[in-house]
Amino acid sequence: MKILITGGAGFIGSHLVRLMVNKYPDYQIVNLDKLTYAGNLENLKDVENAPNYTFVKGDITDAELMQELFQDFQFDSVIHLAAESHVDRSIADPMSFITTNIVGTVNLLNAARNIWKESGYEGKRFYHVSTDEVYGTLGETGLFTEDTAYDPRSPYSASKASSDHLVRAYYHTYGMPIVISNCSNNYGPFQFPEKLIPLVINNIKHKKPLPIYGNGKYTRDWLWVGDHATAIDTVFHKGANGETYNIGGNNEWQNIDLVRILCDTVDGLLGRRVGEAQELITFVKDRPGHDKRYAIDATKIKDELGWEPAVQPAEGMKETAQWYLDNTEWMERVTSGAYQQYYEKQYS
Ligand code: NAD
Ligand code: DAU
Repeated sequence: MKILITGGAGFIGSHLVRLMVNKYPDYQIVNLDKLTYAGNLENLKDVENAPNYTFVKGDITDAELMQELFQDFQFDSVIHLAAESHVDRSIADPMSFITTNIVGTVNLLNAARNIWKESGYEGKRFYHVSTDEVYGTLGETGLFTEDTAYDPRSPYSASKASSDHLVRAYYHTYGMPIVISNCSNNYGPFQFPEKLIPLVINNIKHKKPLPIYGNGKYTRDWLWVGDHATAIDTVFHKGANGETYNIGGNNEWQNIDLVRILCDTVDGLLGRRVGEAQELITFVKDRPGHDKRYAIDATKIKDELGWEPAVQPAEGMKETAQWYLDNTEWMERVTSGAYQQYYEKQYS
């Protein structure tokens, strides 16, 4: 089986590529990534020489390149993760979200369709990895199910909702075998430190302010990134064509509570007085259109496909904090921009 994984040099993509390369030596895994600021090949050093792994630098907004790639590799399946992923950046500059997340997805759908309509759709699969943010926001109660109406609020979530709709349209219109999953907030190693958890851990280490948007009483459902990778593996192999599966950690935290726990954890790991880091908490201007609460009902994936998260939140948060404290070189290379030279060094 030849599988194209897009966005494999990013946070979730790198965990997924590692899992697939190691678990399925008979699969050929091709990782296509533009290497934007969020793409870091140093995340994949341990598998870069594996015989069943190939890296291709490329941009999914380039329709011609996508056609050529499908022609050359004749992929059986696509697991599509490449995206602009950060909500704050989408508020500052929506256009790259529209081109990559929407146009890029359609380019991949078209390239797959052109090849697969000749060979037949039997054994083929286009898997779109999406987000719970397409459902908008919850109040104090309730959970997102697969039937929750789409109601995206940010340019990021609107672009992901749009790409979900387009992927479903290719199923209904052209009979393309597709599957979609919508997942909650991931945490763990290799996340770009613009996102809340790595940002906070790094700032605590350097005794810098910890910016909390608004009153901090916004809720997210946190999932260990390795559990998301096993969920994707499960949906890819067992999910039914045309279906959507919600993926979540059953692990809701208000931002302020999460940050306080991280503060005490990192103080403990650094041998500092517990309570010191909490003094760095700084309430700042709120994110415009900030969604109040996300929470996932993951009953369908549990009952139908037998997947559940394996990592307990307390264990996962401590491991995450320890990883960012231990991997100072990774963090320094990411924050200085040095990681962006890795492709030239290794591949050209
Ligand atoms: P990320 O920002 O860490 O990685 C995105 C990757 O896509 C990067 O390697 C980047 O170089 C690549 N990329 C961006 N534009 C590209 C383009 N035009 N062509 C080719 N490659 C391009 O993102 P992530 O957090 O790993 O998220 C991966 C996917 O999972 C996204 O589709 C995101 O919407 C979805 N998702 C993320 C979360 C989360 O909590 N991070 C939760 C649910 C769903
Ligand atoms: O729900 C899934 C989504 O989770 C993914 O689709 C996105 O790709 C991913 O980025 C993430 O989106 P969020 O906006 O929830 O993640 P972020 O880490 O940016 O923010 C988490 C919460 O913390 C959110 O309520 C905003 C808040 N926040 C964030 C930052 C960066 C702060 O209070 N301060 C900050 O400095």
